[in-house]
Amino acid sequence: MAIDKILVLDFGGQYNQLIARRVRECNVYCEVHPYSMPIEKIKEYNPKGIIFTGGPNSVYEENSPLCSKAIFELNIPILGICYGSQLMAHILGGKVEHATVSEYGKTKLLLNNTSKLFKDIPNESICWMSHTDYISQIPDNFSITSSTKDCPVASMECESKKLYAVQYHPEVAHTEFGLKMINNFLYEVCNIENTWTMKEFAKNKIQEIKNKVKDGKVLCALSGGVDSSVAAVLLSKAVGKNLTCVFVDHGLLRKNEGDEVEQIFGKNGQYELNFIRVNAQKRFYEKLKGITEPEEKRKIIGEEFIRVFEEVSKELGEVDYLVQGTIYPDVIESGLGKSATIKSHHNVGGLPDVISFKEIIEPLRLLFKDEVRSVGLELGLPEYLVYRQPFPGPGLGIRIIGEITESKIKIVQDADFIFREEIKNAGLDKTLGQYFAALTNMQSVGVMGDERTYDYAIALRAVTTTDFMTADWAKIPYDVLEIISNRIVNEVRGVNRVLLDCTSKPPGTIEFE
Ligand code: XMP
Repeated sequence: MAIDKILVLDFGGQYNQLIARRVRECNVYCEVHPYSMPIEKIKEYNPKGIIFTGGPNSVYEENSPLCSKAIFELNIPILGICYGSQLMAHILGGKVEHATVSEYGKTKLLLNNTSKLFKDIPNESICWMSHTDYISQIPDNFSITSSTKDCPVASMECESKKLYAVQYHPEVAHTEFGLKMINNFLYEVCNIENTWTMKEFAKNKIQEIKNKVKDGKVLCALSGGVDSSVAAVLLSKAVGKNLTCVFVDHGLLRKNEGDEVEQIFGKNGQYELNFIRVNAQKRFYEKLKGITEPEEKRKIIGEEFIRVFEEVSKELGEVDYLVQGTIYPDVIESGLGKSATIKSHHNVGGLPDVISFKEIIEPLRLLFKDEVRSVGLELGLPEYLVYRQPFPGPGLGIRIIGEITESKIKIVQDADFIFREEIKNAGLDKTLGQYFAALTNMQSVGVMGDERTYDYAIALRAVTTTDFMTADWAKIPYDVLEIISNRIVNEVRGVNRVLLDCTSKPPGTIEFE
């Protein structure tokens, strides 16, 4: 049975991915495409509904991104959000002007009719606004369905043509009933029937890979992170022993991580596949001797990783397919091509040009992170792995300031283990975006027992974030910090001070390098 699809047309808004994620949260499949997608392609895609995202432009300016009027004649329901709502007004004969009062942030929303979009939503609620233009005149045959103090058209619609527009952002969490409104658009307006669930996804994907790979040989670089682990499990379910997973232990992993990965995927694990663990710790430590500059560390670790992988794959001989754990945000981001290089990211994705293979398989290419996690759980991966925090490819190498030594790695592993354990004990592990310990290169005087110490300071880094592009430092309660600090100083040799990093991103980064 074909699933019902929603098309999200991107007009450059900062929340485009969030809109798509919300739609998926409602168990509806959607894809994000550029606003310029030709009408013929839209028809071919055959969506049950279309959503226009917000965007930074003004519709009345020259060179603003527009859509063709024909899109409104396709008889497909449309929901315009922010810029998308103004675009709908502008193209269909309404008027959009610069507002005398810009609205930004939480705003009281007053509903004034019985729109399908607002089914089961109270007449008064909070929405999230962010706009400097407003719809001053609605197109013919439209009606106003809500307003705020400074925005006469907070939403409008033409029910007979299934056209809906909201000035506020239903996709952000601050809009109290935002998810419900999106859900209403999908199920009340677009009449979605065939939903998208991870159970079905996993089943279909396994079958699809089976049909494609047949007896082919498949190679997967496994890092132990969520994405590559879930990709490996999907492949193993599809091709079994035709899959070989290579796990390079560069000695910069979290405490016990290498053994945990081996336990799950190795010969005593629950999956049928060939698992090769390469203990390359010494090689990496050798190469990193004397290196203090973070960017140089990243390059060395990234390059050495590829060398090791290359050597192992040569021994394995010819491969037909290479597996990559690419996920949908990577696809959307590289499609828009707008990222600036702050630091060179390293992960197992950089491998293809060093080994020969026929084709790349990216089984998670269409999934958001939370969906990847659901697939992982569906396929029996343990929770601790599925909910593992993001961990950078260069690992602890970039959480140790200054030269990397084996003793410093041990210190940061132990401190980080305690930090994570206590965050979990305090029940904060699901609310924090990312948290870890880093080793500063600072030594200072302390006193332990009656002895003078001259030891390292550990920095605790914890942030809340939804997109990892911006982040706020997490306000961990003092009593939790107290336990963590005491335990680290008492249990980790070589540490006599614990510091808390209270820097948001920007201006900081999430990592501490
Ligand atoms: P920053 O430090 O740039 O981190 O604010 C944003 C997110 O990216 C992760 N990160 C990496 N992930 N390879 C990765 O796969 C890398 O080289 C890398 N560097 C940073 C970081 O942990 C955070 O989640």
